[in-house]
Order: sequence, then C-alpha cells, then structure tokens
Amino acid sequence: MNTWITTIDGPAGVGKSTAARMLAQRLKAVFLDTGATYRAVTLAAMRKKADLSDVQAVITVMKQTRFEFMHEGDVLKVIIDGQDCTQDIRDPRVTQNVRHIAAAPKLRTRLVKLQQAFASRFDKVVTEGRDQGTVVFPYAQFKFFLTADPAERARRRYEELKAAGKEVEFETLVEQIVQRDASDENRSVGPLKPAPDAVLIDTTAIDAQGVVQKMFTFIHEKQHGKGQK
Ligand code: DC
Repeated sequence: MNTWITTIDGPAGVGKSTAARMLAQRLKAVFLDTGATYRAVTLAAMRKKADLSDVQAVITVMKQTRFEFMHEGDVLKVIIDGQDCTQDIRDPRVTQNVRHIAAAPKLRTRLVKLQQAFASRFDKVVTEGRDQGTVVFPYAQFKFFLTADPAERARRRYEELKAAGKEVEFETLVEQIVQRDASDENRSVGPLKPAPDAVLIDTTAIDAQGVVQKMFTFIHEKQHGKGQK
C-alpha cells in the first residue's frame, strides 16, 4: 500500500472528527471518517427494515445496496442508492443502532476492506475511527489515540446535537457514551484500544486547534527533524 497514512483513533465525542478533518486540511490529505461507513450500513439496514442483530440479513442488505463514499472538500459524502445521506447517518437513532454493525466480525471485515480500498485511491489520507492504527492500517506512518473525560465528551456531543437542532438530555448522553465505550472496548474484533506505537493525546482540556497543532508538530518534527517549522 503506497498511500501515506495518519490514523486517529479514540472513543466517541473525543474530538476525533474535527481534529482529523483539520489535520487533513493542513497536510493536504484526504479525510476518511470510518464511523460514517458503519453508520451508512446501519441506516441502509434500518431503512430496509432488516433485523440488525441478524448478520446474514445485514450482509444481504449490503449486497443489495449501492454505497458511495466520496471525498468532497473536508467532508466524506455518503450516498446510499443514489441518495445523499451525509446528514441522515448522524441521526441519534442510527447512533443507537450502530453497535449491532460494529460488533459483528463478518460485517467489520467487509467494512475494513472498503476503508482500505477507499484509502488506496489517494496519495495521502488522514483516517479516523476505533481500529485504524491497530487493524485497518497497521503500517500507517503516524498513529494518534485521543482520550478525554466522559462528561466532557458528552458535553461536546450535546453542543453538536443542539447546533444541529436536536434536543437530547445531557444525562442520557453520558449514559450512552459510557455504554458505547463499553461495547467498543469489549468486542472481540477491532476493539477500541491504542496501537502500541500510537501517540496518546488527552483532549479534555485542549480544543481542536490545540490537538491539531500537537499532531502537526509531532509529524513535522519526525519528518524534518526537531527545530524546523
Ligand atoms: O465515530 P462515530 O460516532 O461516527 O462512529 C459510529 C460507530 O461506529 C461507533 O459506535 C463505533 C463504530 N466504529 C467502529 O466500530 N470502528 C470504526 N473504525 C469507526 C466507528
């Protein structure tokens, strides 16, 4: 694989997407939001009224559905059967159901292949998810793992949803985040965990720009030697 890859992994609400998007822009790389691939399959299966816990039923949906993931500026555009679903995949009902897809090894294998195929089309990619540095791109040039306090992550999600006109109770969000962490960390395939060679960044008290600056400086220093900016 000749693509130059930086991976950013970490739990929900840690600021991965924003940081990955900004870092990609700064490095003139393509941004791959792998959560969007899990969300797209979830939404397609929900729309086709498939039983999400039935892996075979979801595989059938995947075979019968045309998914297109397009790099458009700093957004990964998601088209399902010709329809733009970039916004729809963010619906809280999709967020609640995505664990069924994420926990199924057979579905993960398919999505991992899809993510690798997407990246191979470009020279430079910044990818973001849970298993990017460990499973999907173990040979990535740079790997980061972001963490943050669950209450702070819930607060960020709350602000995001509010800005999108969706009212959700803060307490419910904290509960969902803790639940999603547990299911992300405990699954047998592609669990949420840092790659041994990943750089850990705690984002609780740093904003997205600060996080991007840390990552950019790290990459720059490794590539050009310390002291050069
Ligand atoms: O980052 P996000 O909230 O859009 O991700 C949606 C879900 O997809 C999340 O609950 C975990 C799962 N996911 C995953 O299992 N592996 C990835 N590489 C990305 C996301």
